Amino acid sequence: MDTNEIRKKFFEFQVKNGHKVIEPAPLVLEGDPTTLFTGSGMQPLLPYLLGKDHPDGTRLCDSQPSMRMQDIEDVGDPRHTTVFEMLGNWSLGDYFKEEQIRNFFKFLTEIVGLDPEKIYVTCFIGNDKYGIPKDNEAAEIWQKVFKEAGIEAKIADIGTAKDGDKRGIKPGERIFFYDDHENWWSRGGGCESTPIGDPCGPDSEVFYDFGEDKQDVEKYGKSHPASDGARFMEIGNSVFMQYRRLEDGSFEPLEKKNVDFGGGLERIAAAAIGSFDVFKISLMKPIIDKLEEISGRSYDNNTDEMRVIADHIRGAYLLAAQGLVPSNKAQGYAMRRLLRRAILRALDLGISSNFLSEIVPIVADNYKDLPDSILTHREKALKIMLNEEVAFRKTLNRGLRELAKVTKNNKILDGKDIFRLQDTYGFPMELSVEECYRQGIELSKDYVKEFEAALAEQRKRSQTASKGMFKGGLEDHGEQTVKYHTACHLLLAALQKLVNPGICQKGSNITSERVRFDFNVDHKLTDDEKKAVETQVNEWIKEDLPVVFDEYDKKYARDTLEAHGEFWDKYPDVLKVYTIGDFEKPVSREVCGGPHVEHTGVLGKFRIVKEESSSAGVRRIKAVLE
Ligand code: ALA
Repeated sequence: MDTNEIRKKFFEFQVKNGHKVIEPAPLVLEGDPTTLFTGSGMQPLLPYLLGKDHPDGTRLCDSQPSMRMQDIEDVGDPRHTTVFEMLGNWSLGDYFKEEQIRNFFKFLTEIVGLDPEKIYVTCFIGNDKYGIPKDNEAAEIWQKVFKEAGIEAKIADIGTAKDGDKRGIKPGERIFFYDDHENWWSRGGGCESTPIGDPCGPDSEVFYDFGEDKQDVEKYGKSHPASDGARFMEIGNSVFMQYRRLEDGSFEPLEKKNVDFGGGLERIAAAAIGSFDVFKISLMKPIIDKLEEISGRSYDNNTDEMRVIADHIRGAYLLAAQGLVPSNKAQGYAMRRLLRRAILRALDLGISSNFLSEIVPIVADNYKDLPDSILTHREKALKIMLNEEVAFRKTLNRGLRELAKVTKNNKILDGKDIFRLQDTYGFPMELSVEECYRQGIELSKDYVKEFEAALAEQRKRSQTASKGMFKGGLEDHGEQTVKYHTACHLLLAALQKLVNPGICQKGSNITSERVRFDFNVDHKLTDDEKKAVETQVNEWIKEDLPVVFDEYDKKYARDTLEAHGEFWDKYPDVLKVYTIGDFEKPVSREVCGGPHVEHTGVLGKFRIVKEESSSAGVRRIKAVLE
């Protein structure tokens, strides 16, 4: 069964079960400052999952094009893509666990034709801190469903994914309990990071088993469903949305319990053809075939490059067909980045002249079944993409020529060179860095610092403020501005702690007299909130907390240290992280160029002078240190 057919059959199946097919949302949601892109099918349905009546009733389904730029670095492996379609069905206070579990199993085994023996599932183990019980109900339903299919499914407690890497699975086990990092769903992730006000709940994920031999045990540990290895692939997730997070951080049961189901169309299609590589499905293969033809190289020997190109052009096409154009901001920047990365990978395959005109029509054809309502600019898409390709190749060729000159005698590329390439030739820093990796050119260890210094120097020369990637490295480091920098980190931490953990910085402007700080939040701060935030910052100042920094590998900073950062896809691979307070349990931990004070006691008294609207969904605080 090919991919378009699976989508069609899913709708037929759900309609038979009383669901109404609804139109998917565009990839870029108007008026939603909280996310760059629609990343799941539930996002446009948020108000209905919180109790509002939906005009189409209580049973809905769709196929939602979704984009997750946070996965960009993983593209190249057999299953990660930045863009994918999410098959979705929802019960808004209608059916619950039993009907959902039965129906999805039926869809997979009877409609798509998957072998039930290859299906493994996970459930939520519970969370003591928040008093949320283990989801025995879901596990018992699964056990019944498997039994009816002639399979004795044993249940096992795993805990964390890491526990699973050590433990593996034992004969007969098929239903596994994991913690909230794996089996709790909210837009923010696990229990702790569930955004305040959001619906959430335990979930049950379904995995397809591609066989023990696919697991690279040395790299990923023993195989189990939540492992990063290739044996098991998640193909669907039923979220039992039965809670909402309250301001005090606790979880309140929702009056109406919902089901929010999301299934990866591309992944289900891969399971249907027994391929652990999603790039072999009918939506992808024609793109890969064309790349083989143009480059004269084989997919087998150039797998990563071809996967990246195919994925990125699909993503950029969907954005272009929504009418977006490449730019240096937000979604436009993501689109530019996808196209540029695709063109660079094509260079690796020896494709050095324009090639989008040959690929984009194939992508467009693959997406012909998607509704016009979300692809309003289909005709213009190709032109938008081609323009960007032509412009980028010019920049690229000039930049690459200069780069080659600099590195001719095996010279290490340093931050000063990178700055010159950007400043004079418009060849952005991240490209220099990527090129170094691609061509095996050595990169100076301190290139970020050197790059910042070259900026700072330029500024001194021209006496004009310039804007750049590393906020800290660009400013006048007077004693007072340094204090305001640190106050900014405390302010963000206090807002996240007391107002909403999902708050991000949307901009800041520091002078020696005050800080202006923009952040996303959905309401005007109340007087109580302002007071609480101010008091909290002053308490941290009084505690005279240490402020320390170090340089870390990006992945480590993000995943292990859980540093706060706004531009993970733009950051270099090594970055500077500032920690305020106890290292194990910090008050604040942010990616930042600095500089900062060494301990918070020197800041003086922090006072919020004004809180006002900045733009839609963004508020602005002006504060002073006295
Ligand atoms: N909203 C759920 C997910 O994205 C279904 O996994």
